[in-house]
Amino acid sequence: MIANQSLQPKAYYESSTFDSERVDVFENNWIFAGFEEQLTNDNDFITLTIGNTPVVVQNFKGQLSALLNVCSHRRAQLQSEPQGNRPLRCPYHCWSFKRDGALASVPQNNTDFKLTQDDKKRLSLRQFDLALCGSFVFVRVSKNGPTLAEFLGPYFSILKELSANFCDSVGKGSYDWQTNWKIACETVLEVYHVAGVHPETFAKFAKAECEIQFFNGHSTGNTPLQNAPKKWWEGAREYLKIKQNQEYTEYNHFFIYPNLAIGLTNGTLMSLQTYEPIGPTRSKLNFNLKMVQRTDGKKTSEAVKAAIMANFNEFNHTILEEDRVVAESCQKSMLSVDTPGVLGKCEDRILHFHSAWKQDINQDSIQVREDS
Ligand code: FES
Ligand SMILES: [Fe+2]
Repeated sequence: MIANQSLQPKAYYESSTFDSERVDVFENNWIFAGFEEQLTNDNDFITLTIGNTPVVVQNFKGQLSALLNVCSHRRAQLQSEPQGNRPLRCPYHCWSFKRDGALASVPQNNTDFKLTQDDKKRLSLRQFDLALCGSFVFVRVSKNGPTLAEFLGPYFSILKELSANFCDSVGKGSYDWQTNWKIACETVLEVYHVAGVHPETFAKFAKAECEIQFFNGHSTGNTPLQNAPKKWWEGAREYLKIKQNQEYTEYNHFFIYPNLAIGLTNGTLMSLQTYEPIGPTRSKLNFNLKMVQRTDGKKTSEAVKAAIMANFNEFNHTILEEDRVVAESCQKSMLSVDTPGVLGKCEDRILHFHSAWKQDINQDSIQVREDS
């Protein structure tokens, strides 16, 4: 037998595993937070939770900073929306903060707090490492670790090129899945399930073959497209006046450990997904769609975007629903078994994902087959 073991079933539902991976996996690695274009104006912000840590990424007069999204006074959330534009001022008693997290102003300080400059410094918000790869914004909560370029390795230049090329945002959304975040990630790391789960959708869109490459927990899966979708996209490109990315013309899929997946369709559409851990058996799947830029430098009109979204949404939604049903079925069954499942050669991307995860949570790293 050349198959490898999957993870222990309890790794998919135990609270103790979930608690340790929130720190050891999420806080210790670079996590994708959003795109630079969401943060172009002074006071633009995005918020996210990384592990146990609420984070706000905000533009302060042109410079980006990632800070703890918790007020130093009585711990209210500083920014409460996922994305927006407002100064970094607490909505409770209006304490405000600067780019480096230092306390900027405290109403009634002279009469009721008498905070000195040193006190204000001590009440600074924690600031986190922030780095860009093209327009991809990454944040790391833990102070120590590799640079973003070291962490991404060969994927640094790939992501940089993608963000320069696929820059026309056409839509986004999210889904709630009753599964552990790892089960959600695993649904996109192999095409072995396509015949069983997507006979009427993905199977008609791409072939069930996959050429794979790895760098640490990150991986690539290149799957040839069927002819019909290639034709459809060719027509769409002509109509939309957009130019195909010549490097990635099939269904090219990248996974950036621990929870970012990027699928490219025929060098035309980029679908980006993150799998956000919400609880041991609950995750939020966020997706973001971007198209290649137009040849005439113009922005695609809202009406055309809406038409593409309507078309793609239906397809995307059906496929994700098919994946959700089977992922939730696996999740439920984990409680009834106490031995790990098996992974074949066609599931090597999952094996590498698990290997990086095991290293992070200090379990023994699994041996990766030498013939892979
Ligand atoms: S809790 Fe933030 S100012 Fe009071
Ligand atoms: Fe799937």
